Amino acid sequence: MRKLTYFIACSIDGFIGDPTGDGSSTYSYVAGEFLEYLKAEYPETVAAHAWPVLGLEPGTKNRHFDTVIQGMHSYQLGLDIGVTSPYAQMREYVATRSLAKSPDPNVELIADDLVGRVRALKAEDSPLDIWLCGGSTIAGELIDEIDELVIKTYPQVFGAGMPMFGTDFAARDFELGSVRAFDNGVLVRSYTRKR
Ligand SMILES: NC(=O)c1ccc[n+]([C@@H]2O[C@H](COP(=O)([O-])OP(=O)(O)OC[C@H]3O[C@@H](n4cnc5c(N)ncnc54)[C@H](OP(=O)(O)O)[C@@H]3O)[C@@H](O)[C@H]2O)c1
Repeated sequence: MRKLTYFIACSIDGFIGDPTGDGSSTYSYVAGEFLEYLKAEYPETVAAHAWPVLGLEPGTKNRHFDTVIQGMHSYQLGLDIGVTSPYAQMREYVATRSLAKSPDPNVELIADDLVGRVRALKAEDSPLDIWLCGGSTIAGELIDEIDELVIKTYPQVFGAGMPMFGTDFAARDFELGSVRAFDNGVLVRSYTRKR
């Protein structure tokens, strides 16, 4: 089985964005040593249209993921700026019940049985894993399918905002894998789900 990894950016107090989901207050931290790490270690998680801006070479190989899953609200942010395939370097799946037809040949829509579809993707034979991109709603629905968390924590406190998981309370145990601290105060932690 390959893993479903929720690779996500958040504030110190665990919010993935402001109450509307906007995380733009953190963008200035995506620089220097941390940006070089992202480009080297997780290049496929950089949106395709940002590759030239951030200096990623065309054809840079995926390191961790060959498949990405997004909720419709997250995908909509790309559509709003005319981007129909934000992560063209992977197979893209978008969960939606409202969009009838995919706007891009690389993007497959999931309207029914989200958990079943994710389980089928996890059962595929591939050396690379599946990136759960977010947002909060879809992460809440898939919380018990998540095998790994990779949390990029920016040194900001929001006080309120969009939670990492839009779901009800339940304590779930994870084992700490790695912790990496960057010179600008960003922290990247990985955890594996204890089953
Ligand atoms: N900090 C980060 O790293 C990060 C990463 C990603 C996203 N975000 C933020 O997250 C925000 C969006 O999060 P969100 O919670 O509002 O929305 P979301 O999870 O991105 O999308 C929710 C939508 O996905 C569809 N959906 C959810 N469950 C479904 C199911 N079981 N079957 C079919 N479709 C399903 C529905 O779309 P329909 O209404 O079309 O049916 C639902 O309205 C954005 O503002 C974005 O900036 C932050």
